[in-house]
Formats: sequence, C-alpha cells, structure tokens
Amino acid sequence: MAARKKTTASKKKTSSRSSSSKKKSSSARQPADAIALLKADHQKVQGLFEQYEKTRSDDRKSALAQQICQELTVHAQIEEEIFYPAAREVLRDEDLLDEATVEHQGAKDLIAQIEGSSPGAKLFDAKVTVLSEYIKHHVKEEQNELFPKVRKTKLDLKMVGEQLQARKMELMGGGDGSSGRGASGGSGQASRTSSSGKLSGSGRAKSDGGSNEKSGESEGIMAAMARGIGLSPSK
Ligand SMILES: [Fe+2]
Ligand SMILES: [Fe+2]
Repeated sequence: MAARKKTTASKKKTSSRSSSSKKKSSSARQPADAIALLKADHQKVQGLFEQYEKTRSDDRKSALAQQICQELTVHAQIEEEIFYPAAREVLRDEDLLDEATVEHQGAKDLIAQIEGSSPGAKLFDAKVTVLSEYIKHHVKEEQNELFPKVRKTKLDLKMVGEQLQARKMELMGGGDGSSGRGASGGSGQASRTSSSGKLSGSGRAKSDGGSNEKSGESEGIMAAMARGIGLSPSK
C-alpha cells in the first residue's frame, strides 16, 4: 500500500530502472512485492464476487463464476508453490501455513463443484456464496496474520513477488514465466510442479462424476461451512 503510493516528491527516473522494467510493465504490471501482488489478487476476486451477487443474468453468472474459479485456482497454486514454502523457511510458527493449506483444499473442492455445474443448477448460487464467505475468511487470516508476520522477516519479498508474477503469467497462459523463477536463494519450490502451465490439484474435473467423488471427503467441512453462514446443505 505504502509502496504503491505515487510519491511526487521522489519522481526520480533513473535510466537503468526504466530501461529494464518499463518494457515488462507493458505486458505484465509488476507489483511492489509478493504481498502486494497477493493482496491485489484478493481484491480482484472480492470485486468479482460482488459483481456476481448483483447480477441476475445466468450468462453473466456463468462467466463470473468461471473467472472467479480460475483466479482463485491460479492464486492458490502460486501461493502453494512459491509463497507458502518461502514463508515456511522464515517463520517459526508453521500452524498458520498448515491451516491455510487445508483451507485451500476446502476451496478447491468447492471450486470443482462450481466448475462442474452451471447457474441453472440447484445450489449453484449457494455454492458461489459459500465460496465467497470461505475466501473472505481465508483472506482475512492471510492479510491480518500471515502477511504481517512474513513482512517482519528478512524474506526477499520483491524477489518472491517476481517469482509469483512469472508463475501467474505462465498459469494464466501468458508470458514465458522465465523471469524471476531462476533467481536463486528463494524457495526454489516453483520447480516442483509441471512446467506445462496446467493447473494441478485443483480438481478441474468437468465431468459430472469427477468433482463429486473428489469432494466427498471434505463434504463435512463444506456442509459445516454452509451451516455456519446460514445456508443449509442439500438434504
Ligand atoms: Fe491469498
Ligand atoms: Fe491462500
């Protein structure tokens, strides 16, 4: 936030900076650091959920739900591949990261259910609403607890931010994903996953059966969440 402020006083434009980063910023806006990038993602998805709530059009709902699922899947993946492992290396208390990882799994199960359904289907709106509430809770924990703790460490957030941005571009189907990932000294975890740009572990099953059997084991969690926010599950 503070880093994003345009300081008119320090309008220094050194030639070395503009030559290297200006070219990049035309195709991919470079965030200030890892936390700023992740927060920007959170905000974007929040805006999409708000748009979903307001619309009555099934076509629009379908497009928004798809976009929400894609944004969240990519966001969760770059956190799991890059940010969480980097944070694990510098934080003593790993409980927050363990919980965040479990919460991601819950969100992915719900995302798979939404992706395997459509706005006309029973409970579709409820699923999107529950996902929205679930993500709100998760984001609050990241932004109020995890990020401030990581911010206090010596983790090179700028470098991690570059890695996140590069991987995000790759997963979104744009850019070559080469910048940043090669930088050593960080988590080095990004190489764990396939470089094909395929989303892994997100349960992107489009078939009818796929998502249900996958989500079976966390059905209890999802039902409890639904109940918690006043939505009773199907039966
Ligand atoms: Fe996040
Ligand atoms: Fe997260």
